[in-house]
Amino acid sequence: MLDFVTDKVHDENRQGEAFAPFSSDPNQFRKLFYIESYGCAMNFADSEIVASILHNEGFGATKIVEEADLIFINTCSIREKAEQTVRKRLTEFKKLKKKKKGMLVGVLGCMAERLKAKLLEEEKLVDLVVGPDAYRSLPALVDEAEGGQKAVNVLLSRDETYADISPVRLNSNGVSAFVSIMRGCNNMCSFCVVPFTRGRERSRSADSIIAECTTLFENGYREVTLLGQNVDSYYFLDEKNDITVTFAMLLERVALISPLLRVRFSTSHPKDITDEVLHTIAKYDNICNYIHLPVQSGSSRILQLMNRTYTREWYMGKVDRIKQIIPDCGISADIITGFCTEEEQDHQDTLSIMEYAKYDYSYMFFYSERPGTLAQKRYTDDVPLEVKKRRLQEVVDLQNRLSLESNKKDIGKAFKILIEGESKKSESDWMGRSSNGKVFVFPKEQYSLKKGDYAVVQANDCTQGTLLGKIVEL
Ligand code: SAH
Ligand code: SF4
Ligand code: F3S
Repeated sequence: MLDFVTDKVHDENRQGEAFAPFSSDPNQFRKLFYIESYGCAMNFADSEIVASILHNEGFGATKIVEEADLIFINTCSIREKAEQTVRKRLTEFKKLKKKKKGMLVGVLGCMAERLKAKLLEEEKLVDLVVGPDAYRSLPALVDEAEGGQKAVNVLLSRDETYADISPVRLNSNGVSAFVSIMRGCNNMCSFCVVPFTRGRERSRSADSIIAECTTLFENGYREVTLLGQNVDSYYFLDEKNDITVTFAMLLERVALISPLLRVRFSTSHPKDITDEVLHTIAKYDNICNYIHLPVQSGSSRILQLMNRTYTREWYMGKVDRIKQIIPDCGISADIITGFCTEEEQDHQDTLSIMEYAKYDYSYMFFYSERPGTLAQKRYTDDVPLEVKKRRLQEVVDLQNRLSLESNKKDIGKAFKILIEGESKKSESDWMGRSSNGKVFVFPKEQYSLKKGDYAVVQANDCTQGTLLGKIVEL
C-alpha cells in the first residue's frame, strides 16, 4: 500500500523541481488541499493528476491536514480491509471538519466508483464523491460543494486517459516516477473489482507518454515505471504515422530516451506478455530485468474458476521462457489463498509453483469477496477464514525462504545500482536498487555520489529483504 501526503514547501534536495507547484507562501493560493492515497501505484499516479488539475485552478497543496480547506482521500476497493482502512481515516477527518468551518472532504478513486452516491448516505460528512475518470470535473464539483450541495461524478469513460495533463510529482524522491500508460481493465478475473471501478481498458497516446518520460529525465529523474493493470495489452493507433504501437514498441521508445533512464513496468498478465516484449527487455540494458507476473494460484482448477485463462503448466512455460530469454530476470507474483472451493491439494499446487518460479518477491493476500464480482455472484466463499489465514501464512513463510535464497545467490556478484537516497538506518549509507529489483544498502565511503547516480556494487551479505554491499566501480 502506498500512503503519502503532499509536500507544501519547496524541498531543497528535490530534483525535478520544475514540476513542483508548491510554495512556501500559502497566501498565493485560493484554497489549500491535502491528499492521501491508498491502494495501487495507479492511485498514487492519479493523485498526481488530481494535484495538477487543482493546481491549474489556483489551489495549493499542503501536507498539514489541519490547515487544509479541502481534504481528499484517494481510495481502494480491492479487498474489504482496504475499504475499512479508508472508513477509519474518514472518521478522523470528520473530527477535523467539525473543528474547522467550511472544510470539505472528498472521496476519490475506486471506493467512490463502487459505492457512488451511497457513500454520501453512509458517510454523512463526505461532501464530494468523484470516480477515477471524472477528475477533470473536480474544480467545478468543489464549487458546487462550497455552495452547500453534495457533489458527485462517477461517470466512467471509454477514452479518458488524462494524456495532456502533466502530473505534479507528490512527495517524490526526485529519482523515480510513475507514468500511467493506460487505464481500466478488460479482463474479468472473477475475484476482482477493478473492471467495475476503473472501467474499460484504454491506452494513452504513445507521444504523450514519451513526452512525459523525456521531461522527467530532463528534470533529473532516472527511473520511470510504466503503469497499467495489464501493460502487455497496451495498443495505440498512431494515425499520424499510420502505425499501431504495441507495448514492446513503447518500451523501446522509452528506453531510447537515454541509456541513463531506467525503465520498469507493472503489471504483466501472464496470458499477454509476448516474446517480443522479452526480447526488447533483453536488448536494452536500461529496461530493468524484472517482471511482476501475478500467478494468483498454482492450481489449474482454481485458475479456471478465477477466469485467469491460463493453466499451471502454461504459466510454468512462461517462467521458463522468461529465464531463457533474460537469464538473470527477477520475477515476483501476486498470490491469493483460500479462493472459493480451494482444497488442500490446490494450496499445495500454489506452494509448488512458487518453488518452481523461485519468486524473488510476492504480494500475498487471502481471498476477500467483493460485491458485484463474478465470484460473488457465481461461487460460495466457502473456505473458512482461519484456513485462508493459515494457508496465507504458509505462503508467506515459503516466500520468505525463497527471497532469502534468492538474495544469498547474489552474494559475490556485482550489480549496477541506481541510488535512490540515503539508507533509512544510517546517514553514511546509500540505498538503491539493481536492475532485477533487489534493494541494496552500501557505505557512501569517500565517493562524492548523489541520488540519481549509478554505482557498481558488489554484494557481500544479505538479509531476506536487502543485499549489503560495497562500491567496486563508479
Ligand atoms: N492487474 C493486476 C492486479 C491488480 S489487483 C493483475 O492482473 O495481476 C492486485 C492484486 O490484488 C491482484 O493481483 C490479486 O492478487 C489481489 N486481489 C485482487 N482482488 C482480490 C480479492 N478479491 N481478494 C484478495 N486479493 C485480491
Ligand atoms: Fe483485476 Fe484481473 Fe484486471 Fe488484474 S487483470 S485488474 S486481477 S480483472
Ligand atoms: Fe485498488 Fe482501485 Fe488500484 S481497487 S488496487 S486502487 S485500481
